Formats: sequence, structure tokens, C-alpha cells
Amino acid sequence: MAIIYNENSREFHLHNGKISYLIQIMRNGQLGHLYFGKGLKERDSFGHFQQYAYRDMAPCAFADDYTFSLEHLMQEYPAYASADSRYAAYDLEEENGCHVNKFVYKNHKIYGGKPELSGLPHTYIEKEEEAETLEILLEDEMVGAQIILTYTIYADLPVIARNARFICTGEQPVTLHQAMSLSLDLPDKDYVMLDLAGSWGRERHIHERPLDVGVQSIHSMRGHSSHQFNPFVALRRPHTTEHCGEVIGASFIYSGDFLAQVEVDNFDVTRLTMGIHPSGFDWKLKKGEAFQTPEAVLVYSEEGLNGMSQTFHTLFRTRLARGVWRDKERPILINNWEATYLDFNEEKILNLAKDAKELGIELLVLDDGWFGVRNDVKSSLGDWYPNLEKLPSGIKGLSEKVTDMGLKFGLWIEPEMVSPNSDLYRAHPDWILANVKKENSLGRFQYVLDLSKKEVVDYVYGLLEKILKESKISYIKWDMNRSLSESYSNGKPAEEQGKVRHQHVLGIYDLYERLTSNFPEILFESCASGGGRFDPGMLYYSPQGWISDDTDAVERLKIQYGTSMVYPISSMGSHVSAVPNHQVFRKTSLETRGNVAYFGTFGYELDLNALSEEEKSEIKEQIKFMKEYRSLIQKGTFYRLASPFEGNITAWMVVNEAKTEAILGYYRVLQPVNTGFVSIKLQGLDEEKLYRIEEENFAGYGDEWMQRGFSVSDQASGVMGRYAKTQGDYFSKVYHIVAE
Ligand code: DGJ
Repeated sequence: MAIIYNENSREFHLHNGKISYLIQIMRNGQLGHLYFGKGLKERDSFGHFQQYAYRDMAPCAFADDYTFSLEHLMQEYPAYASADSRYAAYDLEEENGCHVNKFVYKNHKIYGGKPELSGLPHTYIEKEEEAETLEILLEDEMVGAQIILTYTIYADLPVIARNARFICTGEQPVTLHQAMSLSLDLPDKDYVMLDLAGSWGRERHIHERPLDVGVQSIHSMRGHSSHQFNPFVALRRPHTTEHCGEVIGASFIYSGDFLAQVEVDNFDVTRLTMGIHPSGFDWKLKKGEAFQTPEAVLVYSEEGLNGMSQTFHTLFRTRLARGVWRDKERPILINNWEATYLDFNEEKILNLAKDAKELGIELLVLDDGWFGVRNDVKSSLGDWYPNLEKLPSGIKGLSEKVTDMGLKFGLWIEPEMVSPNSDLYRAHPDWILANVKKENSLGRFQYVLDLSKKEVVDYVYGLLEKILKESKISYIKWDMNRSLSESYSNGKPAEEQGKVRHQHVLGIYDLYERLTSNFPEILFESCASGGGRFDPGMLYYSPQGWISDDTDAVERLKIQYGTSMVYPISSMGSHVSAVPNHQVFRKTSLETRGNVAYFGTFGYELDLNALSEEEKSEIKEQIKFMKEYRSLIQKGTFYRLASPFEGNITAWMVVNEAKTEAILGYYRVLQPVNTGFVSIKLQGLDEEKLYRIEEENFAGYGDEWMQRGFSVSDQASGVMGRYAKTQGDYFSKVYHIVAE
């Protein structure tokens, strides 16, 4: 791995054998972009990658060169109000209202390692030799401002992590109206844009569209990354598949408003930009002040979408997620939400715990409803002290009782919110993130607390610290159940209001940082009404998240398949729930519900006391299976094999590092009649090794399983025969594959 600066060509080459990223200092001193993709050999200059042409009407920088126009040059971090009329990476305004500026190369630094981003989630390294970093300082002396563009390349991963920092150096303040984390120009438009779209209950479905001239984008203006779009896009070549072909993935390590936009100009040049959504964002900087953008990560793969996902999985599982739980096997849990909703008392919870213990479950999670006077969702958020009518021995007593039974105890919180009917709201009505003098929307009967104010973060922290200190709590489920709407920070001056939504996110990060660092043994799981804030920012604080409130096994196939585009299996909360399912009322077998939920952090979310003896013994077997294979499932290399978005069959598998063991999940939604044979081509095996698929008691070499495939032709026309027991809808099977 190396970052090279070529003095003669004035070019930077970031490369690690797998990828190259090329930047040039252009004739006008600004930065041009030359290339991002498969690794290239170093040479004297790559300047020929920049194409010049005379174009009618194009504003040009030099009187002697009518081919040098920002209108069509590929740039590294383009400015608004320049000769480039495409969408910019940033927009900076001087006090006199002028948006025109020209940040030119001043100097650069290249060093081993990767710097921290204070107060913001970011990817990291454990040893300096894992990465190298380039910082390029740009300056506009007339404006009195600097930009530092930072690029880190990992030695063993096809990853570039980027961010930008704006500094006001002059006497006059400047205001940022837009500051994206990355801008990437690509020389053609021969791509399909893939994003993860959906809504509550059907999060992160794969969505694709071919690029075309104009703008295509996804965004959130909800104050959280949202159920609707995830802060991720991929640009794949039209013929790229799950297993081969080029793809560039971009992921934004942030949990608030975002914009990911792909613009194709009229010369078919593609510009990808990603960062904090500029709407509602204004950040005034006085002399000496700086604005730091969040980090964005670029991944390149020539091994298809799976190749891209595996890079994200490795990066996010091992160099974004942190803490003692990062590499530990995750506990199998029972959550009481779908078992009791808010209608519980200590006795019910202890009964659940008793059955859970007998079945082999390791952690009991007490969900919403344990605090204030919360008997319905209309009250008490903010009053983080126990409801002694429901729980006479409080959280302290209950957590001790559960722990004495041999289970760990976990607790639900929703610390960013306040109910109008709460002691907190009555004491501090101006702590809501809305203008108290106006009519403001309630969402799920609650307001958002203004975490852009330190005193509010301090207050919430104080209450939570008390419970965590006095009780035996091993796990926290951190929920948030409404989007931001009419945000306004009471008491702050006008010029500070454009900062509030980002400062609110920083406040959430601050609260998370304080809780996770002061209680490092606690496992945090993020949640936002299901998967409304399942993003890389959250993964930095909580190594797992609840990916959806939809627990139906069939719906989960799409949600888990889509989520796996970016996020590791170890980050996906997945539970077995009751039938008929509470979201879609579908009945699936306990086996299929388990077979889907295995591919995540496993748990149950149903009334264990209502189960038959037969169901209990099946659950015991499931728990035994998960305990045996969770390390492989949560840390192995994950391959998507057949997509639920394309047909009746879903299949995926995980393979251990040594390629000696794998688990295959196969799911068939509807039972077909008398159709052709189906086989699934396995992935990730060693061609030379002989593997036995245990349930089939048949061995084949890795190349056979991968080239010819594994036959899952279970759709026989009659009830007789080899697969008779597999007849019916919502069938699934999990196979254990071992090398001999
Ligand atoms: C939404 C979450 O996604 C659910 O799992 C549950 O915790 C409820 N909130 C509780 O209000």
C-alpha cells in the first residue's frame, strides 16, 4: 500500500494493489479527479485520463486555452457558483453575500495510519500499518478559508474513507450552505444505481435504475437515516451480477439527514455526491472555527455485489463496530414486546424468564412500558424511573431476580424523546426540538428532545446512568419512534438554527459515547421503530441493530437480503415471533422462522408460556443449533446466492475463514407443482476440498458444488418420494456443509 505524490505531474496515486484512486492538481490550482477503480501500475503521469475539449458556451479558466473548462473537467471537490454548473460538493458564502470562491492546492501530508474524527463515528485502524492517509490543504486566501480533504486507503481492503474539513482563517465569517463528504466524478454513465429503499416494515429492499442524463438521488430529511432510504448507493456495471463484474459502493457514516445523488451531465460524465442534506443546513464559521463533515466510505469490487458487500462486512464488523461485544458471540435473547406489549407485570416477566432459562435462552429483554406511568404509548417518555405498580421491586429488583435465575437482563429505552404527559415535559417544555410558540406535530404522541443542547444530553445521561449503575443490566435496546419535523431550538439565535439538526445528531452520538464508554460491558442494540436508523453511524456505538419491526419470516427474506448489501450478519437483529405473524398475519412453520432468524443475532419475541411442549422442544433444538454455529454465522464470509427480489427462491450461505465449514440457508416461498429441477451454485468453497452436505450424506468437491450446484429439487408432483415431507408453502432448510 502506498500513497505517492508525483512532483512532476502533480498527481496523487493512492493504491494498495487492489484499487487505485488518482487526484491531480490542475493547471488552475484546483483539484481534478482522474480515476477510481481497479488497481493500476504506477507511472509518470495519468494526466491523459482527464479529457479536454472545446465546447460551445463553456466558461473557461484561461484566455489561451478554450479546452480548460470546469464545466466538463472531472473534479475532486467541486464548488458551487463556478464555471461548473453541475451539482457541487460545497457552497460557501462570504459575509458580503458572495458565493464565488476558488480553493487551490496549498500543501499536503501523507502519513501512516488513520486519524480519529472527534465526536463523529468513523472507521478506524488497530495498527498504523493497516492504512495510510493523505490530507490535502486547499485555500482561498481572498475569502480567508481553508478546506482539508482527507483520504485514507486501507492496506488489505479495497476501501477509501473520505471526509472534508472547513476552517475559517480570515477576519470575516463565512457560511457553509452545503458541505458534502464525498464527490466522485466517473468518466461514463454505463452504470445501474442500486439503493436500499422501503418504508416501515419493508426496510432496505433492493431498488435499481439505470443511470440517465439528469439527477437521480435518494435522501432523508427526517432527521434520521430513515426506513425510506439507507445512506448507501452502489453503481454497478449493467452486466455485473452478485458474483462478478465491477461495482462501486458508497456508504455514509452518519445517522441524520443525508443526500446521495448521482448526476449524469450531458457529456455522460457521472458525478456521485454524498453527505449531509443541504436543505436546512447552514453553518456559520468565525475566525478559527471549523466544520467537520462526517466520513463517507468508497468500496470498489470487481467480484460483483457479493464482493462489495463482503468488503463492507469486514470493514464495518471489525473496523467500525467497537467495544467488547464486537467480536463476541451474541447472546440468544427473549424480548417481551410481541409477547406482552405494554401489558405486563413482574410476575409475567419472571414467568417468561423461567421458560426462557429452561429453553437455553441467555438474555431477557424488558421492552417498552417499565417506566413512569406508561400503560399506553401516550405517556412518560423522559421519566426514566420504574413504574412501581407494574414492577414493585423496580428495575433494580427485577434485574437481580432475573440474573439470579441464570439469565442476563436487558432494558429498552427511548432517550431522545419526551411525552407531553411526562414530568420531564412539565418541567422543561422548551427542551423539545420545536418552536414552543407554534403548533407542532406529535409523532406516536411524542416530541423529540432537543439534543443540540448539552444540558438536555446531560440530564438524560444522568437518569440513565443512575439506572445502569444501580441495576444488573447487560444489554440496552435504544429505540426512537418518530421522525424530526418542525425542528427549531428554543433560545438559540437565528444564525445558529441552521446547525441544529446536525448538532442534534452530534448530541445523540455524545450520549451514546458517554454511555458506551462508561458502561463498556453492556451490549447496545440500536432500534428506530424497527429499521428507521439502521446505518453505519449507529454501528459505531451499537454492534447490532433491530432491522425491522416486521418479524414475518417471508418478509424478512427481502429485508435481510437487502440489508446484507452493506451490513454484516453480526449487526442484524433477527427474532422468531409467533404465528399468525403480528404484522402480516401469515402462518409459517417454526422451522422456517428459525431458519430465517439464524442469519442474524438470534432471539425470540413471543410468549414462551403459550407454547406447546412440541414447540418447546423444537426451540431447544434451534437454540442448540445457534449456539453451535453462531460464531461461524456471525463472523463467516456471507454470500447471497438467490434473490427473493427475483423469484420464489432465496438462498444464502456463510463460509468460515478456513473454508472447512459452511451453513447454507434455502427458502422457497410458494410450493410449485411439477416444475423443473432446481440447483443452487454454492460459493466460497475450496475447489480442491471434498465437502459433505450433512443432511444429504453425500460428498462432492468444492468445484462440483460451485459449478454444477447443489440440487434442491423438492417440488415433486406427488406426496410420495424423497422430499415428500417438504411439500407446502414457506418451506425452508438449513444445511451444514463440512470439509472431510
Ligand atoms: C418499536 C420497536 O421497533 C419495537 O421493537 C418495540 O421496542 C416498540 N418500539 C416499543 O415501543
